[in-house]
Amino acid sequence: MKKLMAANWKMYKTRAEAKATAEDLMNRIDGKLPTDREVVIAAPYTALETVGSVLAGKQNCSLSAENLYPAEEGAYTGEISPRMLQDVGCVYALAGHSERRSIMGETDELVGEKVAFGLKNGLSMILCIGETIEERKAGEVQKVIDRQLEAGLKNVPADFASETVVIAYEPVWAIGTGEVAGEGEIVEAHGFVRKKLEKIFPEKANEIRILYGGSVKPGNCAQIIALDNVDGVLVGGASLDGESFSQIALA
Ligand code: 13P
Repeated sequence: MKKLMAANWKMYKTRAEAKATAEDLMNRIDGKLPTDREVVIAAPYTALETVGSVLAGKQNCSLSAENLYPAEEGAYTGEISPRMLQDVGCVYALAGHSERRSIMGETDELVGEKVAFGLKNGLSMILCIGETIEERKAGEVQKVIDRQLEAGLKNVPADFASETVVIAYEPVWAIGTGEVAGEGEIVEAHGFVRKKLEKIFPEKANEIRILYGGSVKPGNCAQIIALDNVDGVLVGGASLDGESFSQIALA
């Protein structure tokens, strides 16, 4: 199983900025990325084609969208379909990022529809889950993980290939705060995720990658990816700079 080192650029970068960062990153990792690593860049819609052209032909480097809408086409003003994303070179899409859940009001059910629809239409899906600080303080981490995985993976086609489903555990309180979860907290949460996956997909659970996200930096990445059940990282702030993300990708 390849470790997945994923950048999430959120709502940052014009096309020119995106191109410069992607080129800088590729120059820095060119010929150095271990064969058991995969790099993914999730970029804003307007920069996808530009970033895709930089990644084209680079081994184990793929393009991701940050979201999708679960319909083929239609009267959905402002939304983008899996087919449109594939048309600009996307292999992956994120679903259920905590910013979309909290700011855009996405429900567990909608996130589940996005995951299932993306997979059925040929995308690999990165399902983001994670508890808020209030939920953690209330002792509800496992309950939240259970609920978000149950709904997020509902209706996933039974014959999916295990590398096309990725879970990103991102505790909301660690996102953009500089407060990375402790090693014990990460191992415990990823253990819950693995157990739940074993219940949902008994035959594939061990081949599904579980990423950690939340204040991952060049200085803490190597320790994090060495932990049990951590199969990669999903990085926000520290992925916006080519040098910083290259250190993470090669950590
Ligand atoms: P930060 O790395 O900035 O904490 O963001 C994490 C994240 O939201 C990635 O999806």
